[in-house]
Amino acid sequence: MLVRYKKTCEKIAMGLLSFMPEEKALKKLQVSMQLYETNPNWHLFMWKKEEDFVGLIGVESVEDVCVIQHITVNPSHRGDGIGKAMVNSVLQFLPCTVVTSTEITKPFIDKCMN
Ligand SMILES: CC(C)(COP(=O)(O)OP(=O)(O)OC[C@H]1O[C@@H](n2cnc3c(N)ncnc32)[C@H](O)[C@@H]1OP(=O)(O)O)[C@@H](O)C(=O)NCCC(=O)NCCS
Repeated sequence: MLVRYKKTCEKIAMGLLSFMPEEKALKKLQVSMQLYETNPNWHLFMWKKEEDFVGLIGVESVEDVCVIQHITVNPSHRGDGIGKAMVNSVLQFLPCTVVTSTEITKPFIDKCMN
């Protein structure tokens, strides 16, 4: 189930975000978290499986365009369809008509769209 990020989950969210290739450095990770917490166009969601948060998707909305900035799944839960389910579910929260990606998220988002 996709839920909106809450500050109480900050450490878990940072742990998940750190699986993104370009988010390894703590400084970069903190800048990204700050964006989600302060910029109203940046939206962070987490995938809850039973009692655990096992996935994260971060979206920048620009009018009706959703740019998937971050997407990660805990390695123990990969290959179970969670990544794809997050991409599909995020549209229930945001009024986007177009979903697009960054250079980094493109390979997986393209895979989800086909
Ligand atoms: C990318 C990621 C979110 C996928 O999550 P997931 O829950 O395992 O994905 P799903 O189970 O929904 O989909 C799996 C499918 O996507 C494919 N896939 C996995 N990672 C992929 C990637 N980086 N690029 C393209 N396809 C990918 C798998 O081969 C699989 O294909 P299949 O269904 O034909 O066998 C996860 O591997 C991850 O957290 N990676 C590290 C973070 C990262 O690199 N994010 C950016 C990705 S571009």
